[in-house]
Amino acid sequence: MAIVRSRHVKESFEIHNDEMDESSGHSGTGGDSRAEEGEEMEVDGTFSTVYKAEDLLYDAYVNDWDMEEKENTKWMSPPLKKRRTGVQELDEYGQPRRRPKYVAIKKIYVTSSPMRILNELELLNTLRGCNSVCPLITAFRSTDQVVAVLPYFRHTDFRDYFRQMTIPDMQIYFRSLFTALAEVHAKGILHRDIKPTNFLYEPNKQRGVLVDFGLAEKEFTDSKPCLCRESSAERRRRVQSSIAAAVGPSTGYPRNDSRPSRRANRAGTRGFRAPEVLFKCTEQTTKIDIWSAGVILLTILSKRFPFFNSADDVEAMIEIATIFGTRRMKACAYLHGTYFETSIPTIGQTGFSLEKIIMWSTCRNGGGEGGAEVPLTAEEKLAVSFLDRCFELDPSKRISAEEALEHPFLLEVHHEDDEITLL
Ligand SMILES: Nc1ncnc2c1ncn2[C@@H]1O[C@H](COP(=O)(O)OP(=O)(O)O)[C@@H](O)[C@H]1O
Ligand SMILES: [Mg+2]
Repeated sequence: MAIVRSRHVKESFEIHNDEMDESSGHSGTGGDSRAEEGEEMEVDGTFSTVYKAEDLLYDAYVNDWDMEEKENTKWMSPPLKKRRTGVQELDEYGQPRRRPKYVAIKKIYVTSSPMRILNELELLNTLRGCNSVCPLITAFRSTDQVVAVLPYFRHTDFRDYFRQMTIPDMQIYFRSLFTALAEVHAKGILHRDIKPTNFLYEPNKQRGVLVDFGLAEKEFTDSKPCLCRESSAERRRRVQSSIAAAVGPSTGYPRNDSRPSRRANRAGTRGFRAPEVLFKCTEQTTKIDIWSAGVILLTILSKRFPFFNSADDVEAMIEIATIFGTRRMKACAYLHGTYFETSIPTIGQTGFSLEKIIMWSTCRNGGGEGGAEVPLTAEEKLAVSFLDRCFELDPSKRISAEEALEHPFLLEVHHEDDEITLL
């Protein structure tokens, strides 16, 4: 009788150390010849190299992580009566041949801090059972190398499909993304790094999973009170009694500034950071992920990637201020007990509507017959109304993932047969 075990490794085992591949400048693939054509076998992330590998010992373990297998079993057609040949095909190890099972092997860079690695693995453990989050099969350490083993999710590179996405495609994509966010946020976890490469989406399957919890954290674990979570009366009182209010607006900086600098977690990816992260809010919430998801939607609607392309946080603020205007940026800064001042002439008081931004970026303001404007359709306007809710500068007013799933944009999902499915 075969012994089937749960795949929790007690003792470390050998991991093949690849030779440095000089042509690519990073490790080789380990030469899995069973790669499906056109698929990359190795991807470099920000903090790791991820390999696709075949799970040769699949049958020796309990595989409760294997959602695909569960679905296949559920929908499997009745067994065929009798094999024509009666001879079962065997693989090179003498085992009955079955469809190969793939895993993703995430080799976390050895320079990552042990706390960061532990945090990622612990959070993945907490998120076990969430259907839209990539589960952790196991993890192990071999000397200084930590490796996480995850189910392999086939996905398509965002850059290969986002320009062709129709509004119904976007609705399906974002329903999947917000379902994942709702699951993660319900556990009080913020992902902090929502962006296309961390949401593995397969357009043909119309489903995606969230990966990369390397920067994720439990809400309010490392936070200090911020004015944004006080009542507006208390906020006004505290701001008015601050030194800055007493001294008045000044141009320039003190030569020797002895005030302690404001510290807040600003981890994330350029262009996807919410304004409260840029303003160093010390009490950040799950709403920062909603902003980043909004950036993905803006990218798709405007057909421009990356949409925001700043070199640092100040440039990022300028980009956001250009769209939202100084009035709203000042109100946003005030919310977190800080100030926003600019003399850049291209940043106006009121900014521009998202509809205008999308019209300009897709060249529709003069793209019609005889240079006429091509206005947004009703369904595009619905998408923009949803985007407006993701881009509320005040995080407490920004839509939550759970509310988003009730928004008409995500509620009426049009499937390929063009019938409207009300969810
Ligand atoms: N389970 C998986 N299945 C398939 N590809 C994956 C999987 N996990 C990660 N990848 C690929 O590896 C890349 C980097 O992985 P990620 O977890 O985001 O690491 P990093 O922290 O280095 O960004 C992803 O963008 C994706 O292309
Ligand atoms: Mg990543």
